[in-house]
Amino acid sequence: MTRATRALIDLSALRHNLQLARKTAPASRIMAVIKANAYGHGLVPVARALDADAFAVANLHEALQLREGGCKAAVVLLQGCHDADEFALAAQYGFQPVIHQLDQIAVLEALTPDASLRVWLKLDTGMHRLGIAAEDFHAAHQRLAALHHVQQPVGVMTHFANADDRDDPLTETQLHRFEAITGRLPGPRSLANSGGLLGWPASHADWVRPGIMLYGISPFGGVLPAELGLRPAMQLRSRLLAVNYYRRGSAIGYGGRYVCEEDMPIGVVGIGYGDGYPRHAPDGTPVLVNGRRVPLAGRVSMDMLTVDLRGQPAARAGDEVILWGAALPVDEVAQHAGTIGYELVCRLTRRVAFDYVE
Ligand SMILES: Cc1ncc(COP(=O)(O)O)c(C=O)c1O
Repeated sequence: MTRATRALIDLSALRHNLQLARKTAPASRIMAVIKANAYGHGLVPVARALDADAFAVANLHEALQLREGGCKAAVVLLQGCHDADEFALAAQYGFQPVIHQLDQIAVLEALTPDASLRVWLKLDTGMHRLGIAAEDFHAAHQRLAALHHVQQPVGVMTHFANADDRDDPLTETQLHRFEAITGRLPGPRSLANSGGLLGWPASHADWVRPGIMLYGISPFGGVLPAELGLRPAMQLRSRLLAVNYYRRGSAIGYGGRYVCEEDMPIGVVGIGYGDGYPRHAPDGTPVLVNGRRVPLAGRVSMDMLTVDLRGQPAARAGDEVILWGAALPVDEVAQHAGTIGYELVCRLTRRVAFDYVE
């Protein structure tokens, strides 16, 4: 039996968004961030669709999946390597690990790999997650510069903590710290995620690292993708399983969270949290039925959710339902559900069938 719940991935939208990144940062090369299964869109198909200068993934496991899928492009490992075996594999496959801890340098120093390695040294400029502290950075850089099996010059990078908020002064502070500490070093430089790329031209440097914008999702809270010229790449859709009529006062679904305000039609849609739709979405979260917005009404269950069909009285079982896509950005659904678009697209489950279209 075919599955009603499907994610349609628009490859031309992915390419359009990459093009927008290139136009916005014309002097920079693009390291397309496709970790976490390309933000839930499918690692290998997305890599095949995108003509990026390099890809960035979280770890060796994701990088090896890319090679198995036939991707020969440069691949950066954002979490780097954890032991000698991983560094040896990275050298063998030509992956570029990010060095963010002094311990990783010690492992590299003890290594005699068959091939030389290209690496990136990451500075913590204020994110306080991964990165070498400012006071240790130059010594770390010198240690890498002394290694024959590390390709010179080493790349330097940092990551922004708050680039999703164009009014937050921390991004500017991080930019200045990066410049002050790495400004005289040779080698390629990289700072900007999507927020940096779209919001801070001064952060573009040699390589930009867009992730979320490639998928047509806005990196900025309260700004919709269309306002930035982005095209959502994922459409999540399902079908109406049933349309039922209930009397005023009827409580709908688990916990009876939604109570009918009048005699009214309730649509039952064949998608739930078992597919990755957020269970905590409140009543009123928009859903498209036959292209028109209707509000979620009642608690999301594992396989189904219910919608108020008063605005769509002609809707029938079998009709198309879109949970997010070009006409209903995932950003909006995320806002209602108290999360971010990143999380919603990443958490679709294996139950959802994926179709790739141009
Ligand atoms: C180090 C690094 N660079 C770039 C990105 C891409 O960020 P965004 O998806 O906000 O563009 C990420 C994602 O979290 C990251 O961890």
